[in-house]
Amino acid sequence: MHVLLTAGPTYEPLDPVRFLGNRSTGKMGYALAEAFAEVGATVTLVSGPVQLPTPASALIQTVRVETAQQMYEAAAAVAPAADVWVFAAAVADYRPATVAVDKIKKAGETLTLELIKNVDIAATLGETKRAEQFAVGFALETTNELAHALDKLHRKNFDLVVLNSLRDTGAGFGHDTNKVSVLDRAGQVLTFELQAKTQLARRLVALVQARFATTYA
Ligand code: CTP
Repeated sequence: MHVLLTAGPTYEPLDPVRFLGNRSTGKMGYALAEAFAEVGATVTLVSGPVQLPTPASALIQTVRVETAQQMYEAAAAVAPAADVWVFAAAVADYRPATVAVDKIKKAGETLTLELIKNVDIAATLGETKRAEQFAVGFALETTNELAHALDKLHRKNFDLVVLNSLRDTGAGFGHDTNKVSVLDRAGQVLTFELQAKTQLARRLVALVQARFATTYA
């Protein structure tokens, strides 16, 4: 099994010293890469800027990128040949419309930035997904969680969507633990209690293996 995995945040430059980004640490994505390698899968890990060491496993090829556009290009190059796609990255939805060549100097009491929409990596690749390929997305919602996650699953052509719980302490950004629900296309919901991201990654990989096998056996 060959897995394409996106992980971490993206950084969208504003000028030579500043960027727009988010607080994703990449821990869940990197734990998934390790867990896929543990079961013998080869993994292409397309990673945004993170503080984590490059995985040592010979089964994991790490491609480091910075922006959403770079992440898209690296993922698109691998997607056609991958059996499973996992979109664990926290991609910036927008980027500054222009990148200043020189450092932006302070002037005036307010500063307005114009942003333009980035490519949706999961949705764009989702349009090219073949019947024998399997896609897993992540969702982070604060209202109507299940409905929004299910909508995302259909819009982006996912087979499974992993819904992060933001309401529980110890779950999500920056923590070593996570609590998630997984939804499938039939609307079935599986709940994974709060646990170490490394442990949760192994459980998610087992679920993907089982679903991938039954869907396309
Ligand atoms: N995603 C992506 N490219 C983007 C935005 C999101 O590949 N430009 C992927 C994420 O990796 C994740 C899924 O899409 O697997 C859902 O991401 P999320 O940020 O929750 O969805 P959005 O489409 O950005 O929706 P919104 O921010 O409006 O909730």
